[in-house]
Amino acid sequence: MSDKAQIILVVDPDPDFLDWVQKQLETPSIRVLAATASDEAYRIFCQDAPDLLITETHLQPYSGLELLAKARQRDPNAMVILTSAFGTTQTVIESMKLGAFDFLRKEGLPFNLKHVVDAALTEQEQMRSAVTFKPQLTVEQHQDSIVGQSQAMQQVFKMVGRVAHSDAPVMITGESGSGKELVARAIHHYSQRAAKDFIAINCAAIPEQLLESELFGHEKGAFTGAVGQRAGRFEQCNGGTLFLDEIGDMPVAIQSKILRVLQEGEFSRVGGNETLRSDVRIVAATNKNLEQEVSRKSFREDLFYRLNVVRIQLPPLRARLEDIRLLAEYFLQKVAATKHLPRMRLSEEALRMMEAYPWPGNVRELENTMQRATVLATSDVILPKDLPLGNESLSLEADLASVVNALELTKESAIEYLLQTAQADPNVQLLPWLEREFTLHAMKVTRGNQVRAAKLLGITRATLRKRIEIFGITKESSLS
Ligand SMILES: Nc1ncnc2c1ncn2[C@@H]1O[C@H](COP(=O)(O)OP(=O)(O)OP(=O)(O)O)[C@@H](O)[C@H]1O
Ligand SMILES: [Mg+2]
Repeated sequence: MSDKAQIILVVDPDPDFLDWVQKQLETPSIRVLAATASDEAYRIFCQDAPDLLITETHLQPYSGLELLAKARQRDPNAMVILTSAFGTTQTVIESMKLGAFDFLRKEGLPFNLKHVVDAALTEQEQMRSAVTFKPQLTVEQHQDSIVGQSQAMQQVFKMVGRVAHSDAPVMITGESGSGKELVARAIHHYSQRAAKDFIAINCAAIPEQLLESELFGHEKGAFTGAVGQRAGRFEQCNGGTLFLDEIGDMPVAIQSKILRVLQEGEFSRVGGNETLRSDVRIVAATNKNLEQEVSRKSFREDLFYRLNVVRIQLPPLRARLEDIRLLAEYFLQKVAATKHLPRMRLSEEALRMMEAYPWPGNVRELENTMQRATVLATSDVILPKDLPLGNESLSLEADLASVVNALELTKESAIEYLLQTAQADPNVQLLPWLEREFTLHAMKVTRGNQVRAAKLLGITRATLRKRIEIFGITKESSLS
């Protein structure tokens, strides 16, 4: 560090907080200045050119984000740390986009303030040319919010903010249901491409021949059924973001074509020679371990390195217990709003049970669980008995409940409906029919595993065998 004392300007409406920070940070080589309002802070910033600005987000007369924007406009290398009692997704992403050095939640400050300030001051000294993001303050409310106050999710939001403006490919990894697509959409939403298309393609769901034409288009007569020329997603998505979902399942032949787009920005339609160009940002996602796929030679190493420039790793839900309550409440609110129902509450016991559960299906499973729980609950408080957590026999009932819910029927009216149908058709024998349908379905979902199917149906394996015989369920019919 240089001999000259460094200056830190701290802005917060609470004088006690300012005192506390001053005590924490002041040393013979660091001077701490304080302000309680944003306009006053900006005046001091212009006058004293502090090495570091630490500001609360909630300020008068204008917000900490605006102060950040003004400070960075005046000095593009200004080092700014935002603090807040809450780190709402939007604020964290915006602040990183505006070039904040970091975003610290107040409850963590006693542990990390000194450490982050040291890092910021060192960086300020070493590299007075930090990357700057152009301010873009006109972002409407994101329709689907990303919820998360955990350290790990706040890290994800910071990454989204940091990468949104660049055109670098982004690789998002994480378990199934952990929010990869949501993050991909957020990157698009916060980028300069937001007004253009976001197109998602699931590479695992489309057969190889179709996938190539889907991505790059085809010429008339390129293959049987190619009756006319067709533009592919790369062409359609010009100026936008292309989300290649489940890229770990992309056939190697197509991987080489994606590599060509990334390296040369060029591609051709299937069956065509013309070289085409398109300005597309690629965001890819997978729940596979791509390093492993590379060593098995099922994923091209060169493509892996191209895509892996920016990597966002989504933590599994069980690794961020503090988000479970927030997410649960968010989904309960969402269900209430879409179904025009009063909002349900979660009992402490139910929450504890959820925090102890490993959530193999991550946030998606939590969302489904909350939807089902609102149907299963008998009062407006969700209790442990209302949570169909990973229990197969319970979740069958819950599945029925969620179907009923989706159709906006009550359980009684669903049964009523079936009875009426049976009445209208003298050939239908309702209970035997239901029994057969349930047995067949249980065999299908368990892929013919009689032990699991019997458990699911709540009967013994011997009984199941008899049913299979009576109903004439063959192996083929249960696997089709
Ligand atoms: N942090 C979050 N806040 C709010 N909703 C979330 C969050 N993460 C995921 N979700 C919701 O959970 C569901 C699953 O998320 P998403 O589709 O992004 O997962 P994914 O990682 O792409 O899963 P898969 O690997 O199965 O495709 C979606 O309905 C999404 O809106
Ligand atoms: Mg997905």
